[in-house]
Amino acid sequence: MAILTVHTVAELRRHIQCWHIAGEKIALVPTMGNLHAGHIRLVEHARERAERVVVSIFVNPLQFGPNEDFKSYPRTLEADKIQLMASGTDLLFAPPVEEMYPDGEQRVTRVEVPELSSILDGEFRPGHFAGMATMVLKLFNMVQPDIALFGQKDYQQLAVIRRVVQDVCVPVNIIGIATVRENDGLAMSSRNQYLTPSEREAAPLLYRTLGEVVQAMKHGRRDFQRLEAEALRKLRVAGMRPDYVAIRVAQTLSAPDADARYFVVLAAAWLGKARLIDNIEVQVAARADA
Ligand code: PAF
Repeated sequence: MAILTVHTVAELRRHIQCWHIAGEKIALVPTMGNLHAGHIRLVEHARERAERVVVSIFVNPLQFGPNEDFKSYPRTLEADKIQLMASGTDLLFAPPVEEMYPDGEQRVTRVEVPELSSILDGEFRPGHFAGMATMVLKLFNMVQPDIALFGQKDYQQLAVIRRVVQDVCVPVNIIGIATVRENDGLAMSSRNQYLTPSEREAAPLLYRTLGEVVQAMKHGRRDFQRLEAEALRKLRVAGMRPDYVAIRVAQTLSAPDADARYFVVLAAAWLGKARLIDNIEVQVAARADA
């Protein structure tokens, strides 16, 4: 038996409509394919929370910059279908680019979240979050899911999506799922396959370095800029090319003040041809003098 796969919005709507009429709860898991255990974890969580699980696979040109890996991004639809079948997906939506952007992607209306889209990853990948949010909002309108699940590895992406949903009143519950890691701590990502064997060995340093920042904060350090600078130095010494290491207030990603207690430590770093991103949330004790 093959997984139910549709390539057009009209076909998608036909199936979804039946499920809506039957009063079934629908979960959406948006992906760009090349599925790994992190994606499958999202599907499993979706399965537990809804009667119907829709997975989309679409390598979205709008969220790639001109010098990024849109053309070479791994496309493995047939292997993905087998994994989705085994994990209990009800429907795979795999549209071609012309279905998502019939008038061309340059002419499509954009969804832009000010500020949040231009900091951290947004500073290094201009237009990325607008391209991502535009596509995700289109998916929400096409599927009209009750819930949608995203990995917390893409922490800023999750924050942008939550803002869009709140700002334009999309009736969907956004659920963030914990990052799935390899045994040595490296966050799972389709882009990890760009690493050579020696780079792959070095890659878990990113997560370890974030962990050290977190430990330092738990031990009372609040000199955020110095902590960031130390972490950047560590990554550079090991041959990585970090874009940033940043300590921010969890969820909002705003710059923390001395009294903040809920943080996220985020980083992006190049290692060879792979751009790795990762983050750890941390809650610290209130200051004794506060
Ligand atoms: O995280 C991803 O894979 C993509 O950014 C998403 C959410 C599927 C939108 O293209």
